[in-house]
Amino acid sequence: MSIRTETADGVLTLTFDRLDRKNAITAAMYQTLADALVAAETDPAIRVIVLAGHESVFTAGNDLEDFMKNPPKDESAPVHQFLRAISTASKPLIASVSGAAVGVGTTMLLHCDFVLLADNAQLSTPFVNLALVPEAASSLLMPARLGHVRAFEMFALGDAVSAESALAWGLANRVVPLYQLGTEAQAVAARLARQPLGALTETKRLMRDAELLKQQMDAESACFAQRLKSPEAHEAFRAFVDRRPPDFNAVAH
Ligand code: COA
Repeated sequence: MSIRTETADGVLTLTFDRLDRKNAITAAMYQTLADALVAAETDPAIRVIVLAGHESVFTAGNDLEDFMKNPPKDESAPVHQFLRAISTASKPLIASVSGAAVGVGTTMLLHCDFVLLADNAQLSTPFVNLALVPEAASSLLMPARLGHVRAFEMFALGDAVSAESALAWGLANRVVPLYQLGTEAQAVAARLARQPLGALTETKRLMRDAELLKQQMDAESACFAQRLKSPEAHEAFRAFVDRRPPDFNAVAH
């Protein structure tokens, strides 16, 4: 099982469950997530959604091997269905993050309404390291949240940001000791589940410019697809498989 799904007391919890691959997300997992988020929209039993991982890793982001074998062909690809679903979800989304959250593991947090980090959380967006560009409207949302220079450093160098810095930069609501994360996330979810859902969803809608997010994601997807075909990206992905550092000076961009 790669995504665990549990519903209790109005809370849907979606848990990354593929520890042998550091919870890297395959097309099949994106599809499961997208389907669950879409179904939650009209399910009266669900009032709040929690995204969680393992205590040692939230998710290593896109499964790079799966991604190379089955690159997203068009807007119907599971990854795009997931990004559309998470960016348009009307019910409150809570992220419960411990360990590494890489790539989309971090950019999905920008679409969550409440972000809880364990003290071992490490957020990173190494798209440029893979010769790619940011996705999930993060090229818009990240600088809006952190300011240009911090966002640029995260994207351009790909270094991990600690839970403490992420909190200080406005990427999270709070940092808690690892052993308290699950309990704290469920406590926040239970509180939100008791709030009036109509008022919550309208508040969310008023806080987001859905059309602008869509435009940005479309622009990012077009650029991402181009970059994926580039000699730089081939070198980056080959280097990942060969477990060696890439050499971008040896290839055309
Ligand atoms: N896609 C596919 N496989 C992945 C993966 C990914 N994104 N991330 C990790 N794995 C695999 C590794 O290849 C390794 O496989 P192996 O056991 O067959 O050698 C296994 O998961 C364990 O990973 P490892 O790197 O040994 O674990 P770690 O604890 O040292 O590091 C991470 C964990 C998440 C920091 C590290 O795996 C990593 O940086 N992964 C790549 C993340 C990435 O670039 N994602 C895409 C962002 S756009």
